[in-house]
Amino acid sequence: MNFDKPVLFPPFNITRASHTILSARDLEASKHFYTELVGLVVSDEDENTLYLRGREERGHHSLVLKKSTGPRVCHRLGMRMLTDDDIKAAYDWFNENGFAATFVDVPFQGLTLHVRDAMGLPLEFVADMDAMPRQMYGYDQYKGASAQRADHWQTQSSDVAKSMAFYHTLGFRTSEYTYSDNDAGGQDLWGGWMQRKGNPHDIVFTNGPGPRLHHFAYLLRDAADTVHACDVAGALGFNHDLERGPGRHGISGAMFIYFRDPDGHRIELFNTHYQHIDLEPPLAWSLSDPKRADQWGMPAQEKWFTEATEFEGAAPDAPILNAPLPTLEKFLDKQKQPA
Ligand SMILES: [Fe+2]
Repeated sequence: MNFDKPVLFPPFNITRASHTILSARDLEASKHFYTELVGLVVSDEDENTLYLRGREERGHHSLVLKKSTGPRVCHRLGMRMLTDDDIKAAYDWFNENGFAATFVDVPFQGLTLHVRDAMGLPLEFVADMDAMPRQMYGYDQYKGASAQRADHWQTQSSDVAKSMAFYHTLGFRTSEYTYSDNDAGGQDLWGGWMQRKGNPHDIVFTNGPGPRLHHFAYLLRDAADTVHACDVAGALGFNHDLERGPGRHGISGAMFIYFRDPDGHRIELFNTHYQHIDLEPPLAWSLSDPKRADQWGMPAQEKWFTEATEFEGAAPDAPILNAPLPTLEKFLDKQKQPA
C-alpha cells in the first residue's frame, strides 16, 4: 500500500465515523456517566436500549448502549455514507469482493447495511438517520464535558497493514502513522491514522490483539471543558475512572483525557486537532519518540495499551508484530535508575 497515493474516487462515498454501539450491564449507571460527566443528550430510551448524541449533533444517535448481562462488547461501529445510492453500491461492491453484506432494519435509521471488514470488525453503514434539534444553544443545560459530537475510533489490529489496506481501498486517507524500529535496522508499521471527513482520523489501527475497540472519541468545545470534565469527574466520584491525561497528543495535536465508563469501555474527550483536506504526505512518528503520544512527556500506563473492548463475534488474534510498549511504568522505572 502506498500511503502517498490515496484512492480519490472510491466505489462509494463514506463520509465519516458516525456512531458506536456498545453493551452496558446497567443502563441507569451508564446514563448517569454519559449525561452528567460526558454531557451527552438522551435522544430515546427504553428498558433495553439508550440512544445518546452530542450537543451539536442533528443525527438521532452517536452512541447506542444495549443492555447486556455478558462481558463488555462493542456490537458495531457505524459510519455514514452520503446517499442511499452509496449504500446500494456498497452492498454490490462488498458482495462482489467476498464480504457478505446484508440490509437490516435499525430503529431511527434509513437504509442500513451490515458487513465485516477484512479483519472481522463489524460495521454498519447508513446515509439517513432521524434528524433531532441541535442542543448546542442550550447553554443553561450544559453538563460535565459538554461533548459536542462524535469524532473517531481507535482500534487494535493484529495486522495493521491489512486493516489499513481495506480502508485505503474504500477511500480513507492516511494522515499519520507510527513505526517501530526493528533489529534489522528497518521500520515496522505499528499504527495508522485514517480519515474521510477532513481531520486527522475517523478510524485508527494500532498494533495489538485484534480486532478490538481501544476507544471512541467525542469533541469538546475547548481546553477549559477538558479541565472542567476532570473537576466534574472528581465531584461525581468518577475520578478513579480517569485513566489518562489531561495531555497533548503529538499525533493529531489534540488535547485529551481518557475515561473508562461503568463497563470499562474507554472514551476519549478532546479538542484542537487539525484540518486534513489537501493532498499531502502523511506524517511519520517513531514509537520510541515520547512526544508522539504526549508532547508534555508523560507516557500512558500499561493497561492503556493492553486493555480494550472485543467486538461481538470477532475473537481477537495475536498481533503479527511483537513491539515493546512505551509504558508509563517503564518510564518511571527509568527515572529511578542512577544516572
Ligand atoms: Fe483518539
